[in-house]
Amino acid sequence: MLQAIRYNQGSLEILDQLQLPFVEKYIPIQTTEDAWHAIKDMKVRGAPAIAIVAMLSLAVELHTLSAAGKVPESPEETQALIISKLNYLVTSRPTAVNLSDAARKLEALVISQSKEAGATGLGVVAAFNQAAEHMLGKDLEDNQRIGHHGAEWIKANATKTGDVAVLTHCNTGSLATSGYGTALGVIRSLSSMNVLRRAYCTETRPYNQGSRLTAFELVHDNIPATLITDSMAAALLADKSVGVNAIVVGADRVAANGDTANKIGTYGLAVLAKYHGVKFLVAAPLTTIDLATKSGSDIPIEQRAASEVTSIKGPRDGANNADGVVLETVRIAAPGIGVWNPAFDITPAALIDGVITEVGVVEKGPDGEFNMATVFN
Ligand code: MRU
Repeated sequence: MLQAIRYNQGSLEILDQLQLPFVEKYIPIQTTEDAWHAIKDMKVRGAPAIAIVAMLSLAVELHTLSAAGKVPESPEETQALIISKLNYLVTSRPTAVNLSDAARKLEALVISQSKEAGATGLGVVAAFNQAAEHMLGKDLEDNQRIGHHGAEWIKANATKTGDVAVLTHCNTGSLATSGYGTALGVIRSLSSMNVLRRAYCTETRPYNQGSRLTAFELVHDNIPATLITDSMAAALLADKSVGVNAIVVGADRVAANGDTANKIGTYGLAVLAKYHGVKFLVAAPLTTIDLATKSGSDIPIEQRAASEVTSIKGPRDGANNADGVVLETVRIAAPGIGVWNPAFDITPAALIDGVITEVGVVEKGPDGEFNMATVFN
């Protein structure tokens, strides 16, 4: 299976997603600064993956400090050190709640750990590292459950002919998580149940997570798949010979009422799905559900550099070397044009048929509303 994150105690490496699909190169993450820059520059991206890499980077940094005898003896000082690093890590990207969710959970853990009778700085570090390491395996298990629940729901609710064609957006696979993926995990599960006729993936401009990363994963797994540009989605849904049965996407944050922040372009796909009577599903672990955020209008949307829209990046011919691929930036927009580049949009809950989680698929209640709190009961 593709692995975006490789971790052993004291050592963390990520597959550099800027170099995919041209070169598979792992780069070391030794400090929280390394992780902050890798997340900001999107060497690693995807809501669960950035949370896990951030927490494991701190685990590695603390491991290094422990080996050098530099962890403060006082549990309170160690707690303060960890919390300041967590606060720094959450500033890397604002929209995916998984990162701040992980940071706040581990903050609560170190606070309670440092209050234990006989607590030591090293004890606080050990508790933090164990919890950060646990996230990696837990995410993989959750994704496999999401895949199963989503595939069963689609089989029961969106299949007329015995097999399905599914459209997805962005990259929500092994590269965006600790493995298997969320929406792409659902596609993997449909494929392993032999009910997937074909997966369609959007290019996902401007950063091309679809054409570079999802296409790479689908080819890697031998899943029958077709790439489209974002602007082809309406025509694809209108084409009866294709017969798309469902659109499945991931999420960066699901508000308490089901409004969902996900990669820019998701909202448009949900509008198209409604018009064409195609099921529209969001696949996300519980760590992406944010009950503290009441609705989509409260979700912060990351704005990214204009250069992502005005240029494209690709490998310079014959320029790969031991350090990886040499990427060339080519300007494609008229000089002087203004640019708007929100990385995410909000899909209103009204357009969503179900939210697939590791504990099952949440559907709207009799009042026509989602109550996301039910998944935590
Ligand atoms: O900007 P990105 O590539 O981090 O955006 C990723 C997405 O929008 C994904 O759909 C989302 O994080 C879910 S990944 C399982």
